Amino acid sequence: MVHLDDIIALQQLDREGMLGHVAALSHQCRGAWALVRDLELPAHHRQADRVLIAGMGGSAIGGDLAAAVAADAGSLPIVVHRDYDLPAWVDGRTLVIGSSYSGETEETLAVFEAAHERGCPLVAVTTGGRLAQWAGRWQVPLVSFGYRSMPRAALGYLFLSLLGILRAVGAVGDLEGDLQEALSLLEGRGPELAPDSPQVQNPAKQLALALYGRVPIVVGVGPLAPVARRWKSQFNENSKGWACFEVLPEMDHNALAGLHFPAGAAGQFCVLFLEGQGLHRRNRLRLDFTQEILAGQGVPCRRVPVGGESKLAQVLLGVQLGDYVSCYLAALYQADPTPIADIVHLKQRMSAGA
Ligand code: PA5
Repeated sequence: MVHLDDIIALQQLDREGMLGHVAALSHQCRGAWALVRDLELPAHHRQADRVLIAGMGGSAIGGDLAAAVAADAGSLPIVVHRDYDLPAWVDGRTLVIGSSYSGETEETLAVFEAAHERGCPLVAVTTGGRLAQWAGRWQVPLVSFGYRSMPRAALGYLFLSLLGILRAVGAVGDLEGDLQEALSLLEGRGPELAPDSPQVQNPAKQLALALYGRVPIVVGVGPLAPVARRWKSQFNENSKGWACFEVLPEMDHNALAGLHFPAGAAGQFCVLFLEGQGLHRRNRLRLDFTQEILAGQGVPCRRVPVGGESKLAQVLLGVQLGDYVSCYLAALYQADPTPIADIVHLKQRMSAGA
């Protein structure tokens, strides 16, 4: 097994530099914010009374994170939509944001086109593709960035671009203070999590070792619910492994009943409870009780303190930690975190079968 303090081995496995993109999260956030901090949108957009963010995979999760940040302070309902059809409730007062790194994702394009036909105010977030072309043709506001990576590795750009758009329509308040907190914590924490930080003092490496050979089940609550989802998909795409996520309090109403079969399964998992500030006091109690019940059934469990005060800081710190863990777990499995051959293959089959 690769030793996680063997930097040369890590670099040899990480041929396309995923760890470098993880390290660049705060840099990406700064770049994206510079693009959108002064964004102004037309009156039709500002009059919207709800928001639908259309995206898939690495281009959708930023929408979930943005909705979580907006949940307390925002004035508009925000729905993240991951499918082809435009929901019937979407009308001319629904702001529809198409979010696609490549600008070529068929589900996102289908929703964006239908929203255009329905007369919705639109904004596109992308690096190019048909999404950018259509935005130009239809004279739709476009947030375009040139960061070159896999879509999921550009989360700083995708997430902060969405937040900037939401701020421009009043769906989130002034985020400057929270963003400064988040960036300073991200940059302060980075060295402890980086590849040259030794295992004994690197929480990301320690978590990867705890997960090796097990199926991670990541549990989030409040603003950390979408972070749990991000961890799950990073374990899939970067580490090339099975992973699940659960959300409290919902999991106490179903998942908790499913710990018994198949026999021996409980010991194959490792449940990670992401823990942040400002939880509803009943959810804090649930976290304790749920962990006790799982541990009592022989399920290995760990608390993962995320840090940060504001929701924005919490979600970004949670993403940073999970992204590092997924890359270290990839190294333990001797997998290159960047390529996603099965997803590419499926997309090719879908295009050929069109
Ligand atoms: O991480 C990935 O590469 C995928 O989850 C993509 O984000 C997803 O397939 C959608 O593609 P795009 O982000 O280009 O819209």
